[in-house]
Amino acid sequence: MTNLDLAQEARLAFSPLTPDDLESVFGVYSDPDTWQHLPVGRHNTREQSRRIVDDAIKSRREHDIGQWAVRVGDQGSDDSLRAGTFIGTGGVNMTPALVWNLGYRLSPTTWGRGFATEIALAAVAAVRAKSDSVAITARVLSNNPASAQVAVRAGLRKVWAGPTMAAAAAGITGEIFSDRDLGGDALRWLIENV
Ligand SMILES: CC(C)(COP(=O)(O)OP(=O)(O)OC[C@H]1O[C@@H](n2cnc3c(N)ncnc32)[C@H](O)[C@@H]1OP(=O)(O)O)[C@@H](O)C(=O)NCCC(=O)NCCS
Repeated sequence: MTNLDLAQEARLAFSPLTPDDLESVFGVYSDPDTWQHLPVGRHNTREQSRRIVDDAIKSRREHDIGQWAVRVGDQGSDDSLRAGTFIGTGGVNMTPALVWNLGYRLSPTTWGRGFATEIALAAVAAVRAKSDSVAITARVLSNNPASAQVAVRAGLRKVWAGPTMAAAAAGITGEIFSDRDLGGDALRWLIENV
C-alpha cells in the first residue's frame, strides 16, 4: 500500500496550520459551544486566533512539528460532514519548558466520533518518528473528562492535579498528563501554566 493509498483511506487530513487557516480557526474558536468547559476562553477577536496559528508555525519552524489544521478526509465524511471540511486544530507544539504540548480543539458538531483520539495518536506517532527523547504532555481541566480520556488513549497518564491558572469556575482543578515522569523544571512550568 502506498502513502497515497493510506491518505485516501484516512478519516482525517492533517496539514500544517498556515495564515490561510485563520478564518477557519476563528470560526471554531469563537463558537461558544467549543468552550463549554471554559466559557472565558472563547475568542472574541481574530488576533487571539492568529496566536494559535503563529504558535504552530513557530513550533514547526524551530522544532519540525507544530499543531495541524484538521479536515475531514474521504473516509471520515458522511451526509452531515463533507470531505475537506475544516473541523479544528490538533497535534503538538513545543512549549518553553521544552516538552511537547498535545492539544485538540474541534467543532462541537464533530465530537464523539473518535476524531480527537485519532489526532492525538497521529501526533504521538509524529513525535516518536522524529525522536522519543522529549516528553509529550497535555493540560486539562477537571470538568473536561473527554479531553482527559483522549490524552489517556494516546498513552499519557495523569502525573499531577491541583489548582488551575485558568479563569475556570469554582471547584475546577487542573490536571497534567505526560507520557513519562517529568523533571522538576518542566513540571514547574506546566503547573504554572495549567
Ligand atoms: C475534547 C475534544 C477534543 C474531544 O473530541 P472528540 O473527537 O469528541 O473525542 P473522541 O471522540 O476521540 O474521544 C472522546 C473520549 O472521551 C469520552 N468522553 C466523552 N465525554 C465524556 C465524559 N463526560 N466523561 C467521560 N468520558 C467522556 C468518550 O467516550 C471518548 O472516549 P472513548 O473513545 O474511550 O469512548 C472535544 O470535545 C473538543 O474539542 N472540546 C473543546 C475543546 C477542548 O476541550 N479541547 C481540549 C482542551 S484541554
